[in-house]
Amino acid sequence: MSGTLLIVDDDAVQRRLLEAMARRFGYEPIVMDGGEQAVELLSQPDRGGVDLMLLDLVMPDLDGFAVLERLKKAGIDVPVVVQTANGSIDTIISAMRAGAADFVVKPVGPERFQVSVRNALRARELEGEVRRIGKRQSNRLSFDDIQTRSETMQAALHLGRRAASSNIPVLLEGETGTGKDVFARAIHASSERAGKPFVAVNCGAIPANLVESVLFGHERGAFTGATEKHAGKFVEAHGGTLFLDEVGDLPPEAQVKLLRVLQDGEVDPVGGKKAVRVDIRVVSATNQSLIDKVKQGSFREDLYYRLGVFPVGIPPLRQRASDIRMLARLFLARFAAEEGRPVRSIAPAALALLENYPWPGNVRQLENAVFRAVVLAENSELTTAEFPQIASALGVSSELTMPAVPEPEKPAQPPVPAKNIVRGLALTKPDGHVRPLEEIERDVISHALNHYEGQMTEIARRLGIGRSTLYRKLSDLNLTDTPCGAPDTTPPEAAA
Ligand SMILES: Nc1ncnc2c1ncn2[C@@H]1O[C@H](COP(=O)(O)OP(=O)(O)OP(=O)(O)O)[C@@H](O)[C@H]1O
Ligand SMILES: [Mg+2]
Repeated sequence: MSGTLLIVDDDAVQRRLLEAMARRFGYEPIVMDGGEQAVELLSQPDRGGVDLMLLDLVMPDLDGFAVLERLKKAGIDVPVVVQTANGSIDTIISAMRAGAADFVVKPVGPERFQVSVRNALRARELEGEVRRIGKRQSNRLSFDDIQTRSETMQAALHLGRRAASSNIPVLLEGETGTGKDVFARAIHASSERAGKPFVAVNCGAIPANLVESVLFGHERGAFTGATEKHAGKFVEAHGGTLFLDEVGDLPPEAQVKLLRVLQDGEVDPVGGKKAVRVDIRVVSATNQSLIDKVKQGSFREDLYYRLGVFPVGIPPLRQRASDIRMLARLFLARFAAEEGRPVRSIAPAALALLENYPWPGNVRQLENAVFRAVVLAENSELTTAEFPQIASALGVSSELTMPAVPEPEKPAQPPVPAKNIVRGLALTKPDGHVRPLEEIERDVISHALNHYEGQMTEIARRLGIGRSTLYRKLSDLNLTDTPCGAPDTTPPEAAA
């Protein structure tokens, strides 16, 4: 797991100890010596990028309890693990009541540290997921719920936010499974129409002869089978947002009628005598190039210009490789909880596999792949063996992953510099003789695997070797599927 840890302690020795431990387990530490500073950082809009705070309870300026209280008052929601010197039950209970997620007793050992931090981060991830699902069902899913580390996606979200504040028709363009649906809901939820209906229509899924009636409604008896009057999606969405999914699939007659509704703000139900006024905001989506359809003559140019006033391109997952591991972990946490399976992490080699796959089905395909892997998993960690389709699509055995697509966008977070490699690596054995080269190489590579969380491109670059050489060495040294933080990948000073 990765993340940014804010370490707050007035004792310099403790700070150094925790900082080193955080780095060792692959977290990015921010270190502070007092509570005031910490509250200030966490009060920033992005909470200073902090994923978790390790907070000392006894400090001279603002103590741990006061920090917790201030955060609560300000509605700042960040998981906190408190450190206590005495471990008295009363202190611990008070801290947990004040909002701490967990506690550790000083001086904390590496194992307790890792377990406590990991659990608190995981619980947070899960809470976020549960909130998102609930919000999606109640149409309150906002842009803040769409998590991304990719700049291209952030740019798209920025456009979406801007569009949401006006009534401008938005056209979402993106491959299947990129999140157009999620995006459309976020636009609605972030707009003034949030409390009003959000009505989604999949234009490609309605039989051609029923499109008009479904969209615009019909009077009783308008056609054979029309036994009841039907309002139609436009009327249903009155006051709110109408999401026209796969709008490129609308048949020509429906396109004409849609254009008229958009121009006049009125719908004519099939077989009806009177037009009905509607107040709607239209968001449409397409996974095919609409302009190409215009060129081919299957989509009306005038309608294209009406719908596509504000186009937003949602990048495919392969162009936002930095999102793959984040989403994979998110889905892992969700499915493990939903399925009640004790799966907790993804092995570095499996993450590398996921990051190298081109994901033609985008986020939905990744979601399904992780779901399947969670169900298949026999251990607490997902390995390449749980992603057999992905492995075979990449043309490799699921024991070993090979790069198959262009370089990913860039690593999610710049990994911390590996300061302790040479310092901690023993060159001689206790008997005074030099250690075999292969052993030293193994130590260096497993350290790098752990340190860069299995980001193969980065590891190869740092080690100054090609990726294929790296994969070969992993195989030769039997290092495939070694998990982060497992005993055989602990830093060399521990292994030596
Ligand atoms: N940023 C995200 N975080 C979490 N889940 C996401 C994200 N983006 C997409 N998803 C999930 O991926 C799946 C596909 O998303 P969505 O249905 O929005 O895609 P789409 O672009 O509308 O696909 P299609 O073109 O096939 O209709 C959904 O289950 C959605 O919840
Ligand atoms: Mg969709």
